[in-house]
Amino acid sequence: MGLLSHFLVIFFLLKSSVLCQVQEFISIDCGGTNNYTDRSTGLAWISDTVFMKQGKSVGVENPNGNKVQYQRKRDFPIDSKKYCYTLRTEERRRYLVRATFQYGSLANGDTYPQFQLYLDATKWSTVSILDASRIYVKEIIIRAPSDFVDVCICCATTGSPFISTLELRPLNLSMYATDYEDNFFLEVAARINFGAPSEDAIRYPDDPYDRIWDSDLIRRQNYLVGVAPGTERINTSKNIDTRTREYPPVKVMQTAVVGTKGTLSYRLNLEDFPANARAYAYFAEIEDLGKNETRKFKLEQPFFPDYSNAVVNIAENANGSYTLYEPSYMNVTLDFVLSFSFVKTRDSTRGPLLNAMEISKYLEIASKTDGQDVAVANALCLMSAESSQMNEGDPCVPTNWEWLNCSSTTPPRITKIDLSRRNLKGEIPPEIKGMEGLTELWLDGNSLTGLLPDMSSLINLKIVHLEDNKLTGPLPSYLGSLPSLQALFIQNNSFSGEIPSGLLNGKIIFNYEGNPSLHRGTKDKVHFQLILGTSIGVLAILSVLFLGSLVLFHNLRRKKSQQKGDSRHSSTKPSTAYSMVRDGHLMDEGIACYITLPALKEATNNFSRKIGMGSFGSVYYGKMKDGKEVAVKIMTDSSTHGNHQFVTEVALLSRIHHRNLVPLIGYCEEEYQHILVYEYMHNGTLRDHIHGSANQKHLDWLARLRIAEDAAKGLEYLHTGCNPSIIHRDVKTSNILLDINMRAKVSDFGLSRQAEEDLTHISSVARGTVGYLDPEYYANQQLTEKSDVYSFGVVLLELITGRKPVSTEDYGPEMNIVHWARSLIRKGDVISIVDPFLSGNAKTESIWRVAEIAIQCVEQHSVSRPRMQEIILAIQDAVKIEKGTAGNLKISSGSSKAQSSRKTLLTSFLEIESPDLSNGCLPSAR
Ligand SMILES: *[C@@H]1O[C@H](CO)[C@@H](O)[C@H](O)[C@H]1NC(C)=O
Ligand SMILES: *[C@@H]1O[C@H](CO)[C@@H](O)[C@H](O)[C@H]1NC(C)=O
Ligand SMILES: *[C@@H]1O[C@H](CO)[C@@H](O)[C@H](O)[C@H]1NC(C)=O
Ligand SMILES: *[C@@H]1O[C@H](CO)[C@@H](O)[C@H](O)[C@H]1NC(C)=O
Ligand SMILES: *[C@@H]1O[C@H](CO)[C@@H](O)[C@H](O)[C@H]1NC(C)=O
Ligand SMILES: *[C@@H]1O[C@H](CO)[C@@H](O)[C@H](O)[C@H]1NC(C)=O
Ligand SMILES: *[C@@H]1O[C@H](CO)[C@@H](O)[C@H](O)[C@H]1NC(C)=O
Repeated sequence: MGLLSHFLVIFFLLKSSVLCQVQEFISIDCGGTNNYTDRSTGLAWISDTVFMKQGKSVGVENPNGNKVQYQRKRDFPIDSKKYCYTLRTEERRRYLVRATFQYGSLANGDTYPQFQLYLDATKWSTVSILDASRIYVKEIIIRAPSDFVDVCICCATTGSPFISTLELRPLNLSMYATDYEDNFFLEVAARINFGAPSEDAIRYPDDPYDRIWDSDLIRRQNYLVGVAPGTERINTSKNIDTRTREYPPVKVMQTAVVGTKGTLSYRLNLEDFPANARAYAYFAEIEDLGKNETRKFKLEQPFFPDYSNAVVNIAENANGSYTLYEPSYMNVTLDFVLSFSFVKTRDSTRGPLLNAMEISKYLEIASKTDGQDVAVANALCLMSAESSQMNEGDPCVPTNWEWLNCSSTTPPRITKIDLSRRNLKGEIPPEIKGMEGLTELWLDGNSLTGLLPDMSSLINLKIVHLEDNKLTGPLPSYLGSLPSLQALFIQNNSFSGEIPSGLLNGKIIFNYEGNPSLHRGTKDKVHFQLILGTSIGVLAILSVLFLGSLVLFHNLRRKKSQQKGDSRHSSTKPSTAYSMVRDGHLMDEGIACYITLPALKEATNNFSRKIGMGSFGSVYYGKMKDGKEVAVKIMTDSSTHGNHQFVTEVALLSRIHHRNLVPLIGYCEEEYQHILVYEYMHNGTLRDHIHGSANQKHLDWLARLRIAEDAAKGLEYLHTGCNPSIIHRDVKTSNILLDINMRAKVSDFGLSRQAEEDLTHISSVARGTVGYLDPEYYANQQLTEKSDVYSFGVVLLELITGRKPVSTEDYGPEMNIVHWARSLIRKGDVISIVDPFLSGNAKTESIWRVAEIAIQCVEQHSVSRPRMQEIILAIQDAVKIEKGTAGNLKISSGSSKAQSSRKTLLTSFLEIESPDLSNGCLPSAR
């Protein structure tokens, strides 16, 4: 009765004095089934069932002792996920966080678990269970970085991860403050009460902060071994003033060990060491020393060099007995095995004494995922009906949530969100605008509603899937100018209004079908004028350059014409300058050789095998004496131009060498006969392969892409690799030849100018082939490379559709492939135009890539058409998509690099003609 009341009084006193701590303690019985108060401590324990949905509560077979919290544990699945408890904290307050693990007995076939313990993103410790009955205790001292911390269990290497208890204990004032706490946590490696009366640890309520002070009587491998002879345990019941820094419990300070023979020594293992550590020693004189007695000793180990020389005199440092002296070593590097001894000094009458010690390892705090990214990730979680994403802690570290991907930067950023068809409801969180690391956003197939949030700052965003949702409102104009955007899918939503023009320039895969209220902007003059207006400076500079060169050429030309007494030519086209500037001496440098007519007659068996009808005449097969196969082209209508001109042109053409241009081998010039000799292309024209006889083997999509890429490269070389550039003017499938390896080469280039000379009498008629002819050139006779681009666009459409450029049967009254394909592609319907031989055998996304660029090529206004370089990149993208090397994801990553490395001298000179100008999309035209 007396005992009980005594206990109650003490308990009441303790309770009131530490009331605030007790209330702030969080004690979680992991796997426990109900809430209860531990009678031995008075602490309230709560079951984790309410907030931990993962894993399962499991009974422990042979719990060590009768503590309720060790009757059950929580087992987690063996997988790559992490399982986290979120604990509320007060930012910048210091806490002790403790997790304990008792496995119970090992069933047959079980393996002991080994797994990782994390605090936020910081790896706290590896939990390795080696003794089923032991309670493994992990403690960490933190200054709370925010208003919560996550304690996570993950990454099992063996067995099933589990946890028994989780405790959060706030500390007071500046306890355990270190100089390094901005960047380091302290993992407790040892906290030992020397001279303990029993094996029981001292903790709450003896320690108001509920630290666990392990007894030095515990027998464990490599734990406090190598004890010096003459070590004795002493105790006192007198009070001890412990008001220094860390407020160790009086009970701990009331016991100690002394080295009666002059030495105190111990050896123990420090888990997770070597490391930098903070070490504390707690000394209080608890023996009543006589007036002429002293206790002085030194640390006799090299570990703490500064202190090895210092003499410890407790009474002096603590101003007397029963007062704590607490020297701490703020930063020492310790080994896995800590071995230390205190040795009395010669003039000391008593041996060394030690009441307690604590050693904590510095753990560098790892960066959590960027807060803005976390906010979005959490918001998206809440939108999921399943809400199964709980208890996963930080989105990225140590392992990322299964539906997202992260960068390895500091802090980690979310790079990909993959929530396709997850039944999300609600609006896309507006915080998404802060996710600067985001490259891919997959939110398709959900029930998202509302407007598109501001994503204009997501400069790394490459791929966006929003299709099959219920999103509404306009497409914000910034979408057209997101610098990294490669693909945008918004089909089957309810977007409305005008599509930003930047999305339609062919650089971006853009699918918007199934949005009835969404429409293309009327690519009208307003838009065009806007571009003109905004780029007036660029244009002005270009015009000055152009006019300057015109004047220069014109003057040269006139001089020349006067010399020749020929005033007929007043053309100021660069083509004239081309032949003029190089006039005269170039013949000597020519590479094409002269081949006599008899030799050609012999080679062609007297022009007996006609293999084609080129733009400028019939073509015959021939075989030279050396066995080389050739195509011999007899130029028609050669009556009017001067021989000199022909020879000069041939010399120039023979100097143009490129893998994707049909090489000119030689020429022959007889009266009224001009003959060009080309390398023979075994596989004929592309036209034959697409539209030819039914027994032709059909080209598959990859073969078509490769041909397109080859031909585009040949044209790009003509446009940018020759100075001045050469405009082909008659790009069509019958001018794209296939060699024995089915590699494509462009033929009949460079003859255009000459032909122009030939045809001066009908110069008002634009050259070219019906169906391929650039309407702008046709209308105003302004010849640019973009005319070739137009024709090449038609070639691309033929490759996609397998149809001819002009046909009343195929296309109805519009009669041509361009109108027909354009109307379907703009409706987002690429499937209906695809060659039936391709459908099912080619990836739609790959075809889309080409279709989009093809439609850009055949834009009415040449300024809106891409340059050949851009076309090549688009085709290469399509190849990557088709081959699956890009996996639909990294479409042409680094394409800008490829683009810049591709620049020739000429293009860098013309850099001023920005791509934005050439495709009609100026950033400022938003
Ligand atoms: C235990 O206590 C917590 C916190 O007070 C409460 O949320 C939870 O519902 C309780 N659990 C049970 C099983 O009573
Ligand atoms: C903790 O600090 C408060 C002052 O903030 C003080 O009143 C209280 O006594 C301290 N608790 C202990 C156990 O030292
Ligand atoms: C204190 O020491 C005495 C002997 O000096 C011993 O009899 C007693 O059991 C010790 N008490 C504790 C609590 O260790
Ligand atoms: C401790 O000292 C080491 C060596 O001087 C130093 O590298 C380290 O940054 C210091 N601090 C911590 C917290 O480890
Ligand atoms: C200390 O004093 C006692 C008597 O008070 C004496 O017996 C003892 O020898 C002295 N010890 C030393 C080391 O002086
Ligand atoms: C110890 O006592 C001395 C004099 O008695 C005093 O000057 C000093 O401040 C005291 N030290 C502490 C830590 O109280
Ligand atoms: C995240 O990236 C890894 C490696 O790059 C990849 O294996 C994984 O599939 C990606 N996860 C998601 C959800 O895309």
